[in-house]
Amino acid sequence: SERSFVMIKPDGVSRQLVGKIVSRFEERGYKLVAIKSLTPSPALAKEHYSDLSARPFYNGLVKYITSGTPVVAMVWEGKDVIKQGRRIVGATNPQEADPGSVRGQYAVSVGRNLIHASDAFESATKEIGLWFDEAELSDYEPIAWPWVMADN
Ligand code: GTP
Ligand code: MG
Repeated sequence: SERSFVMIKPDGVSRQLVGKIVSRFEERGYKLVAIKSLTPSPALAKEHYSDLSARPFYNGLVKYITSGTPVVAMVWEGKDVIKQGRRIVGATNPQEADPGSVRGQYAVSVGRNLIHASDAFESATKEIGLWFDEAELSDYEPIAWPWVMADN
C-alpha cells in the first residue's frame, strides 16, 4: 500500500476541527504513520507549494500557512490512499466540493480550505520527505489491518 502526506491547515486547527478530520482517515481504515503540529517556516511552506510559485495567490498562500497558528502534518498509509485522500478532502474550491468531503462540509473559501492532501505518488514522496525525517515514520500493523485490507 501507499502513503500520502495530509496537512490540516491553520484554519482547521484554529476552528478546532483536528479530531473530526483525523477521524475521517482513521475510520476509513487508513494507518497513521506520523503526526505532528508545528508552525512551518516560510522556507518550508514555499518549498511545499513550489509548483505554484508563479500563481498570483502564492504569497498569500504562504502567509496563510505560516500565520503562526500551527498546522497538523500527517502521513497516512493504505490502499489507494493518495486518490482516496483527495476524495475525502474534496475539490480545491469548497464551493465545488462534494458536501460529504471535508472542504464541502466545513469550508466556503478557496483561500481557507482547511486541508491539504498529496495529489500524486511523486508529490507524496516529495512532501513526506520535506516534512518528516525517516525516524518519525512508524512501521506497525493496526489490529484491524487484515480486516481492512483483505480483498478476497
Ligand atoms: P492542496 O491540497 O492544498 O495542495 O490544494 P489542491 O491540491 O486542492 O489545490 P492546488 O494545489 O492547486 O492549490 C494549493 C492551495 O492554494 C489550495 O488548497 C488553496 O489553499 C490555494 N489556492 C488554489 N487556488 C487558489 C485561488 O484561486 N485563490 C486563492 N486565494 N487560493 C488558491
Ligand atoms: Mg495541491
